[in-house]
Amino acid sequence: MKFVVVSGNPKKDGLTRRMTDEIIRGAKDGGAETCEVSAYDMSYCRSCNGGAGQCLEDNHKCVFGKDGFDYAQETIRNADAVAFISPVYWEEVSEGLKSFMDRFRRCESSGIFNHRKAALTGKPVLLIASAGGSGLDMIEPLKEMERFVHHTGGMVFDAIGINRWNQAYKGRTIYEAAKAIAEGVKVGETIEYAG
Ligand SMILES: Cc1cc2nc3c(=O)[nH]c(=O)nc-3n(C[C@H](O)[C@H](O)[C@H](O)COP(=O)(O)O)c2cc1C
Repeated sequence: MKFVVVSGNPKKDGLTRRMTDEIIRGAKDGGAETCEVSAYDMSYCRSCNGGAGQCLEDNHKCVFGKDGFDYAQETIRNADAVAFISPVYWEEVSEGLKSFMDRFRRCESSGIFNHRKAALTGKPVLLIASAGGSGLDMIEPLKEMERFVHHTGGMVFDAIGINRWNQAYKGRTIYEAAKAIAEGVKVGETIEYAG
């Protein structure tokens, strides 16, 4: 199973990075092959073709995709499971992830345009928002990500908010969630509580 992590984190260290490593560690321990895509490696959606988007007429392909978006889109298309992780900026996901979600949704909306199945269709998706300061601003970013997943046909496996003081136990939760996904646990399947 291929497990892709889409990161909206512009930093190479810190809390969000540590939690990204927990996703990767969990996915690997669950037997997955992992790959990380940075949402900061590409530009934003230009809403081309008079706002309608040429991608909708062009088999979901972005006209400007050579900037790294084609690679990201194809990587997600070939994945069996995907995680999205972002620091909380201004009570939202980071600018990088927001741009990526907007662009990906434009090309990969589910159910609206039937050239082919949207890239996230039926895939388990893990969502992580990493707050700082008060540590209370994780709900809205998780909601933003959840909405994106609904628009693109994925299935939210879990949505986890982290901050400085819950990282000790949420880090383990993230590890376990990624591992469970990699082991093939399906969205909605009951995992008995081991105590
Ligand atoms: C521009 C900017 C805006 C931020 N806005 C928020 C915010 O609205 N709410 C919040 O909880 N944290 C906010 N933070 C804090 C980061 O989310 C937090 O430091 C980060 O997610 C966790 O730490 P990391 O940078 O070590 O990964 C902001 C940080 C920056 C740089």
